[in-house]
Amino acid sequence: MMIFNPDSDPALASQLTRLLDAQAGVLEQRRFPDGESYLRIHSDCTDQDCVILCNLFHPDERTLRLLFLADTLRECGARSVGLVTPYLAYMRQDKRFQPGECVSSRPFAKLLSSTFDYLVTMDPHLHRYDSLDEIYTIPSRVVQAAPLIAQWIQQRVDQPLLIGPDSESEQWVAHVAKLAGAPFQVLQKERRGDYDVSVSLPDLDSAAERTPVLVDDIISSGRTMLETIKHLQAAGLPRAVAIGVHGIFAGDAYAQLTEVADVVTTACIPHLSNQIDIAAPLAEAVRELLTDRDSH
Ligand code: R5P
Repeated sequence: MMIFNPDSDPALASQLTRLLDAQAGVLEQRRFPDGESYLRIHSDCTDQDCVILCNLFHPDERTLRLLFLADTLRECGARSVGLVTPYLAYMRQDKRFQPGECVSSRPFAKLLSSTFDYLVTMDPHLHRYDSLDEIYTIPSRVVQAAPLIAQWIQQRVDQPLLIGPDSESEQWVAHVAKLAGAPFQVLQKERRGDYDVSVSLPDLDSAAERTPVLVDDIISSGRTMLETIKHLQAAGLPRAVAIGVHGIFAGDAYAQLTEVADVVTTACIPHLSNQIDIAAPLAEAVRELLTDRDSH
């Protein structure tokens, strides 16, 4: 097996390479003066099961090169080409809210499905879709962050009260709470624009003597977390812990959040808030998919 990492996540790439007992594929990448991508594979991938680790945050900057790499691996004789993307982009755009809007989760799924043999990701934003199979036509494995987050909370937080800031977060927060043996509540959110969000008041009676731990899948503008924390601060609760599976931190979201909370993310997107390791379950998922593939 060979692992290629066209992105800048050498830490996760080397963990996966070690856990999968694979070789690190060698790439040469640069931009032509006109901005187009140059790509060359320096490893012999003939008859190899090739895995591309490509974190698809800021997907528009990465996707084209990813497709070029997958295609070139096949032309160079790869036996299979799989994608590991801890953050699967465009999943939040799962409905046409206004006439003519692109439901980008669908064309993005078509593109990746036509390129890869399988897909491994961690907690994609499944809100209006029940599973990736509704839009992806290739085999996929969704690795759950809940057990990893629950373990982190058990080891680091005394008397946690888990809070999901919106109904979509219930799937994560309820699972984490069950595994961590902690109480939880889920708030209601209204989003009027990218930076215009309001969140309902938490039930403060059950919060006494507890450390609020917010859990959500994605932290992007940070507004969802910030609005929730405002309520907790107004009620005089202790400093919150804000946990995101995928810390995108658009603009100054991280700086704003760290003023009011301890911010923790999984290593899905490389960032200084990463405290929760994800390599082992991702490697396991790749192994399972390749075993399934070989047995068919
Ligand atoms: C959407 O419902 C997600 O679960 C997150 O709550 C959302 O993406 C967070 O975005 P932001 O940080 O921009 O408020």
